[in-house]
Amino acid sequence: MKKFNDDFLWGASSSAFQIEGAWDENGKGMSVADYNSFQRSALQADTKVASDFYHHFEEDIKLMKELGLNVYRFSISWSRIIPDGDGEVNQAGVDFYNRVIDCLVEHDIQPFITLYHFDLPFALVEKYNGWEGRECVNAFQRYAQVCYQAFGDRVKDWQVTNEQNLMIRVNERMNMYQVEPKDAEKVRAQMDYHMFVAHALATIDCHKMVAGGKIGPSVSSTMTYASSTKPEDVWAARMNDNFKTNYALEMYCFGAYPGYYEKYLRDLEIYPKTLPEDPEILKGAKPDFIAVNYYRTLVASYLPADKMHPVGTKEKDIDFDLYGYFKIEPNQHLKASQYGAQIDPMGLRLVLNDYYRQYRLPLIITENGLGTPDVLTEDQQVHDDYRIDYIRDHIAACHDAINDGVELFGYCPWSAIDLLSSHQGFKKRYGFIYVNREDHDLKDLSRIKKDSFYWYQEVIRNNGLLA
Ligand code: BG6
Repeated sequence: MKKFNDDFLWGASSSAFQIEGAWDENGKGMSVADYNSFQRSALQADTKVASDFYHHFEEDIKLMKELGLNVYRFSISWSRIIPDGDGEVNQAGVDFYNRVIDCLVEHDIQPFITLYHFDLPFALVEKYNGWEGRECVNAFQRYAQVCYQAFGDRVKDWQVTNEQNLMIRVNERMNMYQVEPKDAEKVRAQMDYHMFVAHALATIDCHKMVAGGKIGPSVSSTMTYASSTKPEDVWAARMNDNFKTNYALEMYCFGAYPGYYEKYLRDLEIYPKTLPEDPEILKGAKPDFIAVNYYRTLVASYLPADKMHPVGTKEKDIDFDLYGYFKIEPNQHLKASQYGAQIDPMGLRLVLNDYYRQYRLPLIITENGLGTPDVLTEDQQVHDDYRIDYIRDHIAACHDAINDGVELFGYCPWSAIDLLSSHQGFKKRYGFIYVNREDHDLKDLSRIKKDSFYWYQEVIRNNGLLA
């Protein structure tokens, strides 16, 4: 029985807009994530304070050290570094991340940086309609170069974009509020393509500019089971995975869209505008690893052709609006979290095996966790045995995958400290460390170790030995 390697990376994750707060402090510009969160301010917490990592990072990193992390995966806010996306560099922003990185290094925690986690500078939306404009590609390339230059001496592990494959389908993340439904898929296809080109350029530049640098994409992984043994349902499940995730992995790893995706773009007459130099750029970028974000699995059944709907409209029970032939259903064999994510450790083993078999690249898990409300007791404790159960079962699945032959080199659950959930504010928590605030009551923002903190500490101390 193989064990976790001695140099296995035990970490935890976060992203800038979900923890930092200080959304406009020291020259930071507004991001799309800020804008989105302000739209929902009446209902839940926004990015103004979030977990206030900006003012608590030394305390938080000390706690991460106590937890035993040897890696911390976090993101840099593009609009803190370049407030308007492609103009002046904001030295105060660079200084902030220098302090965070130095503090991590002092505590022997390897920084693992995501360049872009849902938070495009809002100014780029105003100037170029965000990723629809080719200018955004140039802006991203420059931003990445600024980061490599400033931090590459200490940071060797980089992730370009967090979950492009999911982000592109969420209108608010792309700031596609104003787009007419009939144009939406065309705009989406162009934005997606530009992000792939930007991803490739940032990958190539990292290899040129960061000595010993390693870089890869992160995907929101999808594992879809067929709702029956009917071949059409199996096909629907396969296509759901292909359209949601695999097409992106193929683009990152092989530098071209796979046939089914190319056909989809051509059939709908939404093939994006390209430049003659793009194929060389896309093919020249070679990721060093794939980062996998994994929360749940899905079930799909085939939707007959006569139920297909025109692009740009959406029937209630159809999850995916590309061709319209995937109907997503609940899995009778799995329990779901309070927010509907079907909990499935075996699905993680399947995903890891699938990705490794197809791409033969080392894998790291950069997100996995249970989002649920926690209760702070009067004596300041959080008894989150449900989170321990979830993470224990998923670490066991990682162990199984390693024994299946998968090269898995790290596990970074979501999240280190509690943070702003993308849609449920501070009601839905993921952290090992409780942040004492509610959506509309900042309380004292103190940090409290949950039961899962002590449990994960023991797991790390024993290099994955499961309690
Ligand atoms: C991932 C994102 O898709 O899911 C995170 O990368 C996000 O940013 C996480 O927080 C959990 O989703 P949610 O909606 O529960 O916050």
